[in-house]
Amino acid sequence: MKKLDGKVCLITGGAGSLGAAAARLFIEQGAAVVLVDRDAERLNEVARDLPQERVATIVADVASAEGASAYVDLTLARFGAIDVLFSNAGNFGTVQPIADYPDDVFGEVLSVHVRGAYLAAKHATPHMRKGGSIVITSSVAGVRGDAGVYAYITAKHAQVGLMRCLAKELAPRGIRVNTIHPGPIDNGFQLAVERRLGDAMGVDGTAFFNDMIPLGRHGTADEIARSVLYLASDDSSFVTGTTLMVDGGMSV
Ligand SMILES: NC(=O)c1ccc[n+]([C@@H]2O[C@H](COP(=O)([O-])OP(=O)(O)OC[C@H]3O[C@@H](n4cnc5c(N)ncnc54)[C@H](O)[C@@H]3O)[C@@H](O)[C@H]2O)c1
Repeated sequence: MKKLDGKVCLITGGAGSLGAAAARLFIEQGAAVVLVDRDAERLNEVARDLPQERVATIVADVASAEGASAYVDLTLARFGAIDVLFSNAGNFGTVQPIADYPDDVFGEVLSVHVRGAYLAAKHATPHMRKGGSIVITSSVAGVRGDAGVYAYITAKHAQVGLMRCLAKELAPRGIRVNTIHPGPIDNGFQLAVERRLGDAMGVDGTAFFNDMIPLGRHGTADEIARSVLYLASDDSSFVTGTTLMVDGGMSV
């Protein structure tokens, strides 16, 4: 028996590093997946390598209600149900002192992470089955502060509040809700962050992060996928409302 046999999993940010790694593992574990992303080209690349009878893709902006409604409709039309919502799409914004922080960037980052996760839950939960699981990708940035990272860190904290409200509302329906908090991952998203932060601070961004990780290295997308699988599957059947740190000890 595989861990997600017969489950239907909706993954936002499905064309990205963590979304694609989760999609591959979920399928290996018996699931069907719907991948949502605004990047059509990368979405096709990810889906091309997956068994076509168990994958669907849709180009949508998670920050729009129309987008959320469209990807939920597609999931129901193609696979008939929703068991797992992996709310994972994300952007980073910029690093600036508070007095200079661009308002439009602040709004844009909050709209992807916070409004996006809110809309995903709003549209998906009415169709989720008992035993379902929502996993929201927050970050180690959801439990700490760093000067200048105003939009991203605020957004990642806000996702925890959303998760806690959802966990309480959905528990009577047997649906669990948790956030996962990756530390720095060895992928393009993190490399771009390290370049920006490094430039803003006048330091080597990668070395700056390595110094803060007790395990002394970045994580991999596959390591995050395995932790998401834990939260998505019945292995975590008594776990709801929690913040799972997968960060090499960075938040300690
Ligand atoms: N990479 C890391 O080190 C790290 C650490 C902690 C948390 N995270 C979080 O993990 C999640 C996934 O990041 P990743 O590392 O896979 O980066 P990624 O850039 O590879 O993936 C993010 C995906 O989200 C998509 N996306 C962005 N805005 C969107 C929108 N409005 N609508 C639809 N899709 C949108 C992008 O096109 C991209 O494919 C993000 O929420 C990120 O904040 C990443």
